[in-house]
Amino acid sequence: MDKLIALAAAMPKAELHIHIEGSLEPELMFRLAARNHMDLPYTSIDELKEAYRFDNLQSFLDIYYDGASVLQRESDFYDLTWAYLKKCKDENIRHTEIFFDPQTHTQRGIAFDTVIKGIHRALEMAWQEWGISSKLIPCFLRHLSEEDAILTFREALNYKEWIDGFGLDSSEQNFPPSGFQNVFARVRTEGLYCVAHAGEEGPAVYVREALDLLKINRIDHGNNALDDPELVERIVKEKIGLTVCPLSNFALKVTPDLSKHPLKKMLSAALKVCINSDDPAYFGGYLNQNFETMIRHLDLNAGDIYRLARNSFEISFASEERKISLISELDDYFIRKGYHASLR
Ligand code: ADE
Ligand code: ZN
Repeated sequence: MDKLIALAAAMPKAELHIHIEGSLEPELMFRLAARNHMDLPYTSIDELKEAYRFDNLQSFLDIYYDGASVLQRESDFYDLTWAYLKKCKDENIRHTEIFFDPQTHTQRGIAFDTVIKGIHRALEMAWQEWGISSKLIPCFLRHLSEEDAILTFREALNYKEWIDGFGLDSSEQNFPPSGFQNVFARVRTEGLYCVAHAGEEGPAVYVREALDLLKINRIDHGNNALDDPELVERIVKEKIGLTVCPLSNFALKVTPDLSKHPLKKMLSAALKVCINSDDPAYFGGYLNQNFETMIRHLDLNAGDIYRLARNSFEISFASEERKISLISELDDYFIRKGYHASLR
């Protein structure tokens, strides 16, 4: 098992579901609070970490949105993103697709420009310094109105050349995808990708809606799609990817028993799934920790691990040329490690 964990840790891979605000480590949160002369409602890092015990998605979101308030200046967004990209380098993440929540910041008076400029600068640096490629995906908060999402979308279009698609996140229950059809129609008109969190806490029918009404190119989470076999068959047939987040599912009690995590079933059903960290600073680990957890609890084999990495490239929004190059890096790696070509 240790050999498989090491295999997964060093293999080239992509991460396609990471909220950059969810990579805000307690240490950086305290540092930014001091730098911006702000008080936090916690006296120490340990006290803050004590608060990271969640009962469900909402209990996490309340703390997560609060934590983001220390992000004030462009350099704060740069530092946050750069810290995550360093992790990517350490964990051999060769391509990453980053979510951010513009409304979390604009609602408290931080300009959209400040947020995106800081994030973009770090992404550019990581490409130049380390050859880590990236895509940037602002998400609409589904607990806010569609009108608000449309205003955010309009503002974001000033930076269209830095943006690859739009997502939908935040509280899922009672906020179905159907409420955001107009804004996603506009996203598609601009030729940008559409993704949505669906089937994390919400029912399979939300996944169906996200596909039918928002016409998403990829599903974030999608766990509850498994409740509907006909839907699963369709997702397989249409080769729609799913970005699964095991440690997040555990922390938010979506999957209280990791040995019952649906990842193995998803692989068996030939769904195009990949593993992701979601909000690593809050859920106890980055991408490699998520791989390790799944290898330990689901007894994944080398073929599963290869498939997960390959899926991460295949369902990414990287150019075809970049995908070919990353998949060949992956193949070379497995051959170097002594795995037979039949694995692929
Ligand atoms: N925003 C950050 N993490 C999220 C999650 N797991 N689900 C919905 N919205 C989120
Ligand atoms: Zn998420």
